[in-house]
Amino acid sequence: MCGIFAYTGSKNAGPLLLKGLVSLEYRGYDSAGVFMPESGVVRAKGAVAELRKKIPKNFTGRSGIAHLRWATHGEPSEKNAHPHADCGGNIYVAHNGIIENFRELKRALQSKGHTFRSDTDTEVLAHLIEEHMAHTKKFEHAVLTALHEVRGTYGLVAQCKANPDKIVAARMGSPVVLGVGTRERFVASDPSPIIPHTQKVIFLEDGEVAVIMPTSHAIVKLDATKVKRGATTIDWGAEKVKKNGHKHFMLKEIMEGPEVLENTLRGRLVLEKGRAKLGGLESVAKELKKIERFIIVACGTAYYAGLIGEYMLEEYAGIPVEVELGSEFRYRSPVLNQRTAVIAISQSGETADTLAAVREGKKRGALTLGIVNAVGSTIARETDAGVYNHAGPEMGVASTKALISQLEALVLFTLFFGRERQMSLRTGCEIAQELKTIPEKVAVILANHGKIEKLAKKYAYARDFLFIGRKYNYPVALEGAIKLKEVSYIHAEGYASGEMKHGPIAMIDKKFPTVAVVPSDSVYEKNLSNIHELKARGGPVIAIATEGNTEIAKIADDCVYVPKTIEILSPILSVVPLQLFAYYMAHQKGLNPDRPRNLAKSVTVE
Ligand code: F6R
Repeated sequence: MCGIFAYTGSKNAGPLLLKGLVSLEYRGYDSAGVFMPESGVVRAKGAVAELRKKIPKNFTGRSGIAHLRWATHGEPSEKNAHPHADCGGNIYVAHNGIIENFRELKRALQSKGHTFRSDTDTEVLAHLIEEHMAHTKKFEHAVLTALHEVRGTYGLVAQCKANPDKIVAARMGSPVVLGVGTRERFVASDPSPIIPHTQKVIFLEDGEVAVIMPTSHAIVKLDATKVKRGATTIDWGAEKVKKNGHKHFMLKEIMEGPEVLENTLRGRLVLEKGRAKLGGLESVAKELKKIERFIIVACGTAYYAGLIGEYMLEEYAGIPVEVELGSEFRYRSPVLNQRTAVIAISQSGETADTLAAVREGKKRGALTLGIVNAVGSTIARETDAGVYNHAGPEMGVASTKALISQLEALVLFTLFFGRERQMSLRTGCEIAQELKTIPEKVAVILANHGKIEKLAKKYAYARDFLFIGRKYNYPVALEGAIKLKEVSYIHAEGYASGEMKHGPIAMIDKKFPTVAVVPSDSVYEKNLSNIHELKARGGPVIAIATEGNTEIAKIADDCVYVPKTIEILSPILSVVPLQLFAYYMAHQKGLNPDRPRNLAKSVTVE
């Protein structure tokens, strides 16, 4: 949510900054802006293409800061685009987060004669720094003092004209990554724009400020104590943040499914013992033996992964599980103790609500575990232990490959805890053996993408969709609906099949199609009855069914087949056609699924 990118070195910074912004576009695209001390500032409403049009030919320099905005305070406009300046036009700040006390700070600064030009909360930072520059010669001291006065969250970069080589970056609640190159340094909201230049990165922690020059950097805490931290090496290369011939990241990432699933599994299955080896949980092995209850916290698609995890862990590990939305958890008074483990599921590892839930869990004495994709992210660092998905960077705003890897990780958790408790060797081996075959089964579904593209053409007329499923595939229905809504803006509702007759079936007519997720599992017959109920009311039905089921083809209007598997693994297969369906529906409507309106990847505000 909002993207920042900054560079200091000896290359021409302009093209570098714009390229960096392009790879951050999934974080926001309400407005874009760039400041280079040697050339000035350019801002534009809209994404980087609009900014590029406004950059003059002589816009050059060896350093600069750039920003993409996802609007919180102040409408999307050029006036509100970052970087924001002080009164003198000497200090510029690009910021991700929310300054909660900006109104009182603004009033105080105005009374001292500062003139504001935007409606944003960020602008107070530039004026505050300006105010403190009057009392110090060092830019970084002024930034540090200013930060003591603000309340809220920030991931920010600041520069002043007098020190063109220097960038000051700071973090409180919004991610900041420093890239360490040879005679050059980068700063960004996440590693993706840094990776084409260097794989050596340092993740700033909350309450840290970095003073960055082309050949050096120093990190201090807000109280000015020094921080020593070496760089870590990111293990994915620049090709992972490109589209590799696909029109959109969303399609590329869906198509990466089989590879992603292999990566999540690598080295973690002990086939002959029907067990999972999760090195990331070893440090808390003693505490895990005492756990009597899990609370899974997550948001959006990751929350639906959690709901599926609930079915898995309760059925096979016999451990009670509750699944909570991150945004709700901390506002209740959850009853937790040392025998409760809070499991946070998050692709980005930065989602503010999920992070707040983890902190709440810790505060109340629970053990906290993570299933996180982004290596080094805040949730990964703040949880007591956890596993990484190894899905690689997810650039599409809509989560696709991360979801299937989350589901796989939850199966691994189920084997891990199940075999320690009630799961037999036989069951463990059956799940482990079948899990090994899942990547190639996903490849079979993906090879059939042409059929789903045709279905999207056929149903492009629909203004509403219902998605239904039961048991393990009920949350898959919820996921089918959110995916369609977010990328194609078609109204969609996900429902438990059995709940339809308690309300939503009233909406059904011949223009209101339903996608029914009906694999051949323990609830197939019940699902079939629900499909009959829909057909009796004239509603068109697309069935996602198991290969070889000829009966369903006679009832549903259209069928998409997925390979046969065991029930616990069926969501990993049945969700893939729904991801493709959402993608092709967006395509049919001429929409860019990588940039759904009003959305941004990594929701770092609450
Ligand atoms: C939907 C989607 C979002 C995210 C949610 C959580 O396609 O991408 O609903 O799943 O914002 O994000 P993470 O997993 O990064 O915590």
